[in-house]
Amino acid sequence: MIIRHKDLSEPKSHEITPESVYLKRRELMMLGGLASLFGVLPGWAHAINSVGEDASRPRWLKDQVAKAKEVKSGADESLTPYQDVTGYNNFYEFGTGKTDPADNAHTLQTDPWTVTVAGEVEKPGDYPLETLLEGLTLEERIYRLRCVEAWSMVIPWIGVPLAAILKKVQPTSKAKYVAFTSLADPEQMPGVKSPFTGIDWPYREGLRLDEAMHPLTLMAVGLYGRTLPNQNGAPFRLVVPWKYGFKSIKSIVRIELTESEPATTWNMLAPGEYGFYANVNPEVDHPRWSQSRERRLPNSFFDPNWVPTRMFNGYEQVASLYKGMDLKRNY
Ligand code: MTE
Repeated sequence: MIIRHKDLSEPKSHEITPESVYLKRRELMMLGGLASLFGVLPGWAHAINSVGEDASRPRWLKDQVAKAKEVKSGADESLTPYQDVTGYNNFYEFGTGKTDPADNAHTLQTDPWTVTVAGEVEKPGDYPLETLLEGLTLEERIYRLRCVEAWSMVIPWIGVPLAAILKKVQPTSKAKYVAFTSLADPEQMPGVKSPFTGIDWPYREGLRLDEAMHPLTLMAVGLYGRTLPNQNGAPFRLVVPWKYGFKSIKSIVRIELTESEPATTWNMLAPGEYGFYANVNPEVDHPRWSQSRERRLPNSFFDPNWVPTRMFNGYEQVASLYKGMDLKRNY
C-alpha cells in the first residue's frame, strides 16, 4: 500500500473533537438551526451540515440511522474529526490517493442496493438492503480503526452486528468462512478502470465464521450520526476493529458462506505482506515498516502524533479466537 503523510495544513491534535462533545450531538443537533445563526456550532457540526450525501439516501435508512442506540464501547480516546474520517480514505475503486475517494465517490449510486447472499446458507437470495436490516436496531459503536499503513482513527460507527444478519440467512453446518465482495462497476468507479492499482477486481475480503459471529464485528451503514458517506463505503460495509483496516471491506454487494478460506484482495496481491488474518499485532512488522506504533489522525509532519500500537488494536477480548495459533505465521 502507498504510504503518504498528511500535509501541513491539517488540524493539530488540540483540535480533536472530544468524545464528550460528540455524545451531546443529538441535543446539539436539535438546537442546530438556531445555534448556527449565531455561529456557535462546533467545527464538526458545520462539517457534517455541509456534506450533501445524506440527502441522496432513502428515507427508511435515514430513519433507522437516526434511531441508532448508543452503545458505550471501549474506545476512550478522542474522536477523529469528521473531516479526517471522511477526507482521508482508502477506497481504491475511486483512486489510490487519500483524497481521491472524497473527490470521486459522488458517482457511486447507493439506492437501491442489493446484497446477494450465497453459498452455505439456508436462505440464499438477492436481498434489498432494507430487507437485510429490517427489524434490527442499529447501534452506535466507537471503534479504533488501525490501517496496515500505520495510521489510525477513532470513529463513531452506526451499524448492526454481522451476527444478526447471518442469523437471518442461517449458515448451514458446512459454513466455515464468510466471503465478502465489493461493487466493481467501471462506470461508477474510476479506479476500477485504471491500470495503476494492480488489483484484480472486485475487492474481496473474508473472515472465519467465528470471527464473523464475534459481537465486535459490525456491518456499518453510518458514522457520526449520519448515513455512510460514499467514500467510507456506502451504503453497507464491514468493520472489524481488531484487524488491519483493509479487512473492513466497503460497499458490499455479495456475502458468501464457504467451506474453505476465501481469496482476499491484498493477500492475492502481496501474500508475503498481507495475510488472511491481518490481526493488528505490534510484534509482527510489515516487511517494509514497523507495526509497533501508529500515527493517530489528525497529525502533521511536525506533530506526527505517534501512539503505541496495541495487540488486537486493544480489543483483547478476541484473543480466545486464536488460542493455540502461531500469530507470527498466521499474520
Ligand atoms: N474496501 C474496498 N472495497 N476498497 C478499498 O480500497 N480499502 C481498505 C478498507 N476497505 C478498501 C476497502 C483499507 S486499506 C482501509 S485502511 C479501510 O477500508 C479504510 O476505511 P476508511 O476509508 O473508511 O477509513
